Amino acid sequence: MGAATDAVVRRLRDAGCVFAEEEAALLLAEATDPQELAAMVRARVDGRPLEQLLGWVAFRGHRLVVDEGVFVPRQRTGLLVELASAHLHEGATVVELCCGVAPVGAALLAEWPGRLELWASDIDPVAVRSARRNLAPLGGTVVAGDLFGGLPDRLRGSIDVLVANAPYVPSASISLMPREARDHEAVIALDGGADGLDVQRRLIAASSEWLPAGAHLVVETSTRQAERTAGLMESAGYSAVIRRDDDLDGTAVEGVRH
Ligand SMILES: C[S@@+](CC[C@H](N)C(=O)[O-])C[C@H]1O[C@@H](n2cnc3c(N)ncnc32)[C@H](O)[C@@H]1O
Repeated sequence: MGAATDAVVRRLRDAGCVFAEEEAALLLAEATDPQELAAMVRARVDGRPLEQLLGWVAFRGHRLVVDEGVFVPRQRTGLLVELASAHLHEGATVVELCCGVAPVGAALLAEWPGRLELWASDIDPVAVRSARRNLAPLGGTVVAGDLFGGLPDRLRGSIDVLVANAPYVPSASISLMPREARDHEAVIALDGGADGLDVQRRLIAASSEWLPAGAHLVVETSTRQAERTAGLMESAGYSAVIRRDDDLDGTAVEGVRH
């Protein structure tokens, strides 16, 4: 290890970075000069998420753009990709709501190149910008709006698979989150209201207008909230099943519309 690398590793380790060696290697590879490297290390020590500094995140083998302030996709969201892909068919209409940088849409399009009509939507214009950069090259379309608000009317009643990792952190728990999330991800990406289910509640209730009988809805949740997420789906006309993947540490509820 060179002296420069060594110094970066030491600073990151002293700041509490668990994967200091790996992070140092990524920062050194990304920085174009010593000044930029120093600024990146300073920002990382101040708690900025590594992925926002690099400008990208690796998600299921794909490199996705992550603009500053946008929610960084977590690996557990790979569970949504696995569940959704089981319901795809040639020409399926797929929507990712509350898409952030659109990790699920990007992974599905990469698995089914040119074979899906894929839409993604988010209320945050910065997230929409990142999502567009990720989906445009793969043939997906990104719109801005509150839940279904930006989607074209013609999709009503014709979505085959709807996936969403909507915010689900109860408002009172935001202050307990790691500093990286609290200080550097938009609060609208995290805050799910008093019980954490406000956005899910609206999304699941509205979804029945957009999904025909037999269509699938897949929503990320936590193990603690899973029963309530499933209950929201049952009340909205779905048969709901809780899915858990311990390797990914992911929990989701999957519903099929009656
Ligand atoms: C937990 S983040 C997940 C982002 C992305 N799905 C992922 O897994 O990386 C939740 C996202 O929902 C978006 N959001 C929050 N409220 C929304 C609403 N009412 N309509 C659309 N998007 C919303 C936020 O801007 C944020 O990008």
